[in-house]
Amino acid sequence: MSHILLITSSPRGSDSLSKRFASDLAQQLSEQHPGATLTVRDLYAQPLPHIDEAYVAGRTMPAEARSPAQAQAVGLAEALVAELQAADIIVIGSAMINFGPPSQLKAWFDYVTWPGVTFSYDGKAVQGLIKGKKVYLITASGGVFAEGPYAPYDYQSGYVKHLLGFIGLTDVEHLRVEGVAHGPDAAQAAIVNAEAAVQTLLASAA
Ligand SMILES: Cc1cc2nc3c(=O)[nH]c(=O)nc-3n(C[C@H](O)[C@H](O)[C@H](O)COP(=O)(O)O)c2cc1C
Repeated sequence: MSHILLITSSPRGSDSLSKRFASDLAQQLSEQHPGATLTVRDLYAQPLPHIDEAYVAGRTMPAEARSPAQAQAVGLAEALVAELQAADIIVIGSAMINFGPPSQLKAWFDYVTWPGVTFSYDGKAVQGLIKGKKVYLITASGGVFAEGPYAPYDYQSGYVKHLLGFIGLTDVEHLRVEGVAHGPDAAQAAIVNAEAAVQTLLASAA
């Protein structure tokens, strides 16, 4: 049985295109896998608190030594990591906000990028510990970053893919919904292209 984890993060709520296409893809993937479960983590509707000193100190100490605040912060990280570990397929929707991912998604990475738990470092090399999962990353942006003069400024997809790979998630299919701020025709074309790209991803996943 497949477990699908859908993570959305846009602050634009129901207008979000990354949420729309990530949700569509996750829903259709779950229909493609009989008996699949779908876990939804909407980081905008239920934002994570920023990491703080309780989390940073608490995650390095034995569970029985943690204060209540430390136990709560580390417990949240453990729950997020458990969601990742339980998933076979992870679908992430990310909106470009000031050239990077939404702070909501950054906060999620701050919890799940955890030495000794999701990655190890032996003094020579880093090894990601979350292995054997398929990731679909849907990014949306006002500008065009796949090519052209703004390509060097895509700090969203490079950052997200780097951190995914850092914790072991290297099998990533990336779908861009881009140029949506270049007028209504460009926005419509981006949507039509994304709809077709979702179908192509589903066909290759079947
Ligand atoms: C606060 C804010 C900042 C944004 N910053 C950028 C940006 O730096 N570059 C860009 O190309 N688009 C930017 N956009 C446009 C969004 O990336 C675009 O609306 C995209 O569709 C957002 O993803 P979503 O549809 O999933 O919400 C910004 C939008 C907002 C609301």
